[in-house]
Amino acid sequence: MASQVLVAANRGPLSYALAADGTLSARRGGGGLVSGLSAALAEQPGAVWICAALSDADREAVRRGVAEPGVRMLDIDPEVYDDAYNGIANSVLWFLHHHLYDVPREPVFDAGFRRQWQSYTAYNEAFAAALAEEAAPGATVLIQDYHLALAPGRLRELRPDLRIGHFTHTPWASPDFLRMLPEDIRGQLLWGMLGADQVGFHTGEWGAEFIRGADIDDATGRATGVLGTGGPQGVEHRRYAADGSGPAEHRFTEMARYPLGVDGDELRALAHRPEVDAKLAALRERTHGLKTIVRVDRTELSKNILRGLLAYRELLTVHPEWRGKVVHLASAYPSRQDLRVYREYTQAVAELAASVNEEFGTADWQPVLVSVEDDFARSLAVYRLADVALVNPVRDGMNLVAKEIPVVSEAGCVLVLSTGAGAYAELREDALTVNPYDVTETAEALHAALSMPTAERADRTKRLAAAATALPPAQWLTAQLDALRNA
Ligand code: G6P
Repeated sequence: MASQVLVAANRGPLSYALAADGTLSARRGGGGLVSGLSAALAEQPGAVWICAALSDADREAVRRGVAEPGVRMLDIDPEVYDDAYNGIANSVLWFLHHHLYDVPREPVFDAGFRRQWQSYTAYNEAFAAALAEEAAPGATVLIQDYHLALAPGRLRELRPDLRIGHFTHTPWASPDFLRMLPEDIRGQLLWGMLGADQVGFHTGEWGAEFIRGADIDDATGRATGVLGTGGPQGVEHRRYAADGSGPAEHRFTEMARYPLGVDGDELRALAHRPEVDAKLAALRERTHGLKTIVRVDRTELSKNILRGLLAYRELLTVHPEWRGKVVHLASAYPSRQDLRVYREYTQAVAELAASVNEEFGTADWQPVLVSVEDDFARSLAVYRLADVALVNPVRDGMNLVAKEIPVVSEAGCVLVLSTGAGAYAELREDALTVNPYDVTETAEALHAALSMPTAERADRTKRLAAAATALPPAQWLTAQLDALRNA
């Protein structure tokens, strides 16, 4: 049956595991985007989520016709998928949007890149085709993230009757970074996004980067960003049909800001399950009354884990009074390990943590405890225990950890927050904010955070939690669907 509401994202709400005896079992997919969207979509009857098969087990499930209601998994050729996901989405678009390139060496746009771009195009085509097939006339479609930047444009060609939204969970590259792309590829990327009626971002700043970078004047048409106050902001564009026939199609793609927040009641309930209580008790035993500085991240280049450890080392050097009184709980669970830079970064984090422990550790005090488990129950226990939360990404779309910790922390927790996080826009007043590159400033912020009087800490935490829960996932989704329907 055709659907009125459709979501497309690389990751789906579930993934499969294949046992030795050939049986398949489904488990919930990973990541913050997935949990937020799953909850929100559950409130939309008949909605369909289109996602990619990520593993051999997923592909096997598609081939056997194992289907969960409301989910359609696409069996994309593994080599095409690898080029699109690892090659383009994670190694090019992610690096551009987060400004991660080490520019004397990267990026290199050569023949190999062109091949990967072909795969990325095919991967986006597959999503557009599936959406076109599943959507009821006039349905509303919400496409997620940099993996699927070309899908809106392709879908509009296939189904001009649909209301198409795109939402970017990352930052958007500044115009200078976007211009690193070969000009024809930059055009394809932007024309793909401009197939949407509305493009959404977590902050006005990322949306403004999009508008500023969306100036195109090529053989296929022309687009100009409209950025001002009052009136809708977005990109006005005229585009010719692919075969050059007919007048240009004149449209406006609106930019809108939807700062995703957390569902406070749900998160608190999750954080007080017996499983979490048990993990908290175990952590308390290990940290025996010491103050805690916590962080929870994927081991991700943009999260700035190395400078976080350097700041902690500087804190212990410049403020020796904290030695033996504080412990840094750093959860950094492996991510994207198919990519060499991520494996090397993971290794560098482990080595730096070990060197801090070697330099300052004593027989009865280990300064840093690193955990590499991707265990949400343990993360929640860490949140409850937090005296100080360190969230110092160089550039980050939102960073939901910055929002989750104040909601769950028991004694009130000081948030040390980077100006590069999307969450900075909403939380800056009550966080201690730092330049992510300034290790000394970060060390001093950690010192100030550890020294903050209890009452001030509690007050700030209350206000942080209120800001963090302003737009929970279900409302975040409904607001976008309503805006698209009323456009
Ligand atoms: C970011 C992206 C998500 C992505 C997540 C995890 O938050 O915005 O779309 O799912 O990272 O990355 P992964 O590559 O593991 O899906």
